[in-house]
Amino acid sequence: MLKINLKSLKIEAQKEIEKAEDLKDLDRIFKKYLGKNGKITQVFSSLKDLNEKERAEVGKEANRVKVFLEKKIKEKSPSSVRLSSKGKKEWFDVTIPGKKPSLGHLHPLTLVRKKVEEIFQAMGFSVIEGPEVENEYYNFDALNIPKDHPARDFWDTFYLKNGFLLRTHTSPVQIRYMEKNNPPLRIIIPGRIFRHEATDASHEVNFYQVEGLMVGKKITAANFKAIIQEFFLRFFEKPVKIRLRPSFFPFTEPSFEVDISCLACQGKGCSVCSRTGWLELIGAGMVHPNVLKAGGINPKNWQGFAFGMGMDRLAMMKYKIDDVRLLYSGDLRFLQQF
Ligand code: FA5
Repeated sequence: MLKINLKSLKIEAQKEIEKAEDLKDLDRIFKKYLGKNGKITQVFSSLKDLNEKERAEVGKEANRVKVFLEKKIKEKSPSSVRLSSKGKKEWFDVTIPGKKPSLGHLHPLTLVRKKVEEIFQAMGFSVIEGPEVENEYYNFDALNIPKDHPARDFWDTFYLKNGFLLRTHTSPVQIRYMEKNNPPLRIIIPGRIFRHEATDASHEVNFYQVEGLMVGKKITAANFKAIIQEFFLRFFEKPVKIRLRPSFFPFTEPSFEVDISCLACQGKGCSVCSRTGWLELIGAGMVHPNVLKAGGINPKNWQGFAFGMGMDRLAMMKYKIDDVRLLYSGDLRFLQQF
């Protein structure tokens, strides 16, 4: 009796599988025959009521039907059923290779920032961040630039309301960090800054700097020179010509600037380097005692160097970009090259 039943179940299920229009149908058929309470499953459950001979025979047959139906369902499911019964014209062949989504890529400034962080981290520096909207105290006063001092004019500032401003350099984060941490210190501070100035091939209104600060018992300008030379070697992956010039910053004494032999024109002179063959990359110096004091550090016991490097100009030198404004143009023809 059960054997006859199995035969008709097989025919019935097979017909239903053939008619199935979508994955939902197949799922329903699977459950109806092979699910927990499915018709074939029930045959297996009733085997215990049969004698030994019948049990062996019916068991074998039930298993054969089960394997057969599973195979039929599997054959039908991947490519030959409609995805949904609603759109009968919509056919979906899952075996056709899909469209490759076009992957985005990193902006050259992000690539530079990552590389800079990687190199300095390998030299024991921690990466710190600070706010882009600053107050006058951290951007100027604490950096030894008192109110009404002409040195404030070095940086053309976007002033906001209530004593706030868009930071004109990453140096204020030096003070914020010193206030909360005891020396020795070894940090870099990458970040965006803003200046209200006219743009040209090497000047933007909104650009990126990376600040460096190293404070210890015996840190000197020689340490700065060695670290920065090593940085350039690792960043450009070849020796590059640099020069240190004396300069002035209210927050360092002595102060200097570091130029790189222009890689856009190989030092011959172009619009990037204002025809001089050199491009200014870094402002630096030994941290002024007043700045250490503002950060809560005793200048009698500690000393160190600080620097601020233009990351846009680093990118320009690395990738031979002849106008800083391209970095902010959003021009895909430019960006797709990285
Ligand atoms: C400063 O901003 C100082 N805070 C740097 C410093 C830090 C000195 C710590 C001493 C100690 P300066 O204005 O020169 O310095 O800017 C530093 C670097 O930022 C420049 O050498 C240049 O590489 C880059 N830079 C300056 N102005 C622009 C601009 N408009 N567009 C793109 N890059 C710029």
